[in-house]
Amino acid sequence: MAIKGRVLSVASECVPLLKTGGLADVVGALPAALAAEGWDMRVLMPAYRPLLPLLDGGAVLWQSDDLFGGPGRVVATSKGGMPVLLLDAPHLYDREGGPYSGPEGDWADNPQRFAALSWAGAMIMRDGLADDWHPDILHAHDWQAGFAPAYMAYEGMEQPSVLTIHNIAFQGYASPALLAALRLPAHQFHADALEYYGGISSLKAGLVTARKITTVSPTYAEELMRPAFGMGLEGVIHARAADVSGVLNGVDTEIWSPETAATPYSLRSFKGKAAARAALCDEFGLEVPGPLALIISRLTDQKGIDLIPAAIPDFIAGGGGLLVLGSGDPALEGAMQALAEAYPGRVAVRIGYDEALSQRMFAGGDAVLVPSRFEPCGLTQMYGLRYGTLPVVSAVGGLADTVITANPAALAVGAATGITFAPTDTVALGQALARLLTLYADQKTWAKMMRTAMRQPVGWETSAATYAALYDSLR
Ligand code: ADP
Ligand code: GLC
Repeated sequence: MAIKGRVLSVASECVPLLKTGGLADVVGALPAALAAEGWDMRVLMPAYRPLLPLLDGGAVLWQSDDLFGGPGRVVATSKGGMPVLLLDAPHLYDREGGPYSGPEGDWADNPQRFAALSWAGAMIMRDGLADDWHPDILHAHDWQAGFAPAYMAYEGMEQPSVLTIHNIAFQGYASPALLAALRLPAHQFHADALEYYGGISSLKAGLVTARKITTVSPTYAEELMRPAFGMGLEGVIHARAADVSGVLNGVDTEIWSPETAATPYSLRSFKGKAAARAALCDEFGLEVPGPLALIISRLTDQKGIDLIPAAIPDFIAGGGGLLVLGSGDPALEGAMQALAEAYPGRVAVRIGYDEALSQRMFAGGDAVLVPSRFEPCGLTQMYGLRYGTLPVVSAVGGLADTVITANPAALAVGAATGITFAPTDTVALGQALARLLTLYADQKTWAKMMRTAMRQPVGWETSAATYAALYDSLR
């Protein structure tokens, strides 16, 4: 296929190199999905310490003597078949700890660390790479890349930029004292530009300068314009409404497939799923007569995990069980462990991050719970659809856009794929879990819902075509 154009995607994480959440899945999936649409996309991300071995033998395609306090270079390399541009700047990224925080919390120089990433992105837009790759469009993801469209605008560059909001809760706040250190023009420090509650916000800087703004579901695009979800930036986003759109994420349907589970299954037969369930219950010492519900999640306030303890007792009494895989807020980790102690044989908890286990869980579970307070898109409910592990979700953001709730009308026409509830509180969650017990008890209806869920198109095809159309419109 002839190449329509080149896109530089700038992000702080990318599968299979480094992941803390769904952002990495999406950034890692887009290049292949867009290649099918004729767009040549390269990903630029920091060379954090665990990625340094990948630099060996890679081609150096860009460099700078002074990248916010030390030298920086961009090295083209790859991992697991995924080509990537790593920004190697040891003074910013070669340290023990996570991408955003170390043992003492968030890295104090995060503003500089991600300004450097954004600056390198903007300079590559201006000068191209040493292998003669000249991008046409910059695609920035979240606050970590928010300054990239801003630097392009401030440097007078005319190429288009797109900023995708994966989560408005993280806004890239920096002290106003850093204005010069972050290479930001003083005259942009005002309420219509990058000033935000007296400080600097890299996300706001991107929102006011990017040519187009997208977020990861149509419902979240609307929610973001309201105070309840905009988290302070609703006015900024509303002012740009004409340039804002929601493009639902997809999932990798080859990696996330019941047909490649240890005991494979498909629409034709669920025998493999029954075997996966039995193996999972064995592994965790569970004996669950009713539906086995899963939670696979960061354990944070966003995800509504704190609602579980009050809503779960009736569900357990009705025959249900719960298997939790997650890590995060220590108080929520403790609350989940307390449930496992209170309901041995019915609730089990694994604190940690384990992708292989998450796949065994999707194969063996009956339902996946996602009671988020807000959810820009959410991927786990889509994995649930893929595996016929029916999603029970709060009706927000991408959850509302991907799950068709089992009301009488949807059941009558065979469209239902899960259960949605609102508002996100204990009472509504409890009612949703009661509904789950009832639906599961009717095995014919349940099997029908599983089949409908597994047929949902959750791959990247539609979204990739939508991004391609957006890029086309910018040419
Ligand atoms: P978010 O990015 O807000 O965390 P998403 O649903 O978009 O939410 O993406 C979360 C991703 O991280 C999914 O791929 C999910 O399967 C994965 N995940 C979350 N917690 C764990 C865990 N403890 N073990 C394995 N995978 C996890
Ligand atoms: C964020 C959101 C999540 C979304 C992911 C990928 O982490 O919290 O809802 O699926 O980004 O876009």
